[in-house]
Amino acid sequence: MKTKVLMVCLGNICRSPLAEGILKSKVDENLVFVDSAGTAGYHVGNRPDERSIAVAQNHGINISHQTCRKFEASDFDEFDLIYAMDLSNFSNILKLARHPEDEKKVKLLLDEVDLGFNEVPDPYYGGPDGFENVYQMVDLACESIAKKLN
Ligand code: 4NP
Repeated sequence: MKTKVLMVCLGNICRSPLAEGILKSKVDENLVFVDSAGTAGYHVGNRPDERSIAVAQNHGINISHQTCRKFEASDFDEFDLIYAMDLSNFSNILKLARHPEDEKKVKLLLDEVDLGFNEVPDPYYGGPDGFENVYQMVDLACESIAKKLN
């Protein structure tokens, strides 16, 4: 059976689409299913932010086909691992947990690596450098996850 991994941020247009694309590029799709969602519904149905699409493209990853969706409690049934990009996302996901088994699935993405900080900064209001910065830290975390799952 496949391991199912869900990447979660606030809007599901900047950070988690990158995390979805990066992890997909590192795992065997026969073994691992990867998706992403946002804790807020502002951009449901939209494509990822152009700046995330561009930074992914610079690294040879196409995320332009992804569609934004909102995280929902049923995702606890569907997914084995739920990675939050920051502490705010983490606590918003936990608010929807129905029992301890749900809670156990929720992790902070950057707890997979030792960078000296544990939140992926929200790049939405910044410039392109912020997106490359996000790419680099998410890439390191996904490398670590992929080693465990492949
Ligand atoms: P994300 O970034 O959570 O990485 O997708 C954001 C995208 C949109 C908004 C905030 C953060 N927004 O306020 O619309």
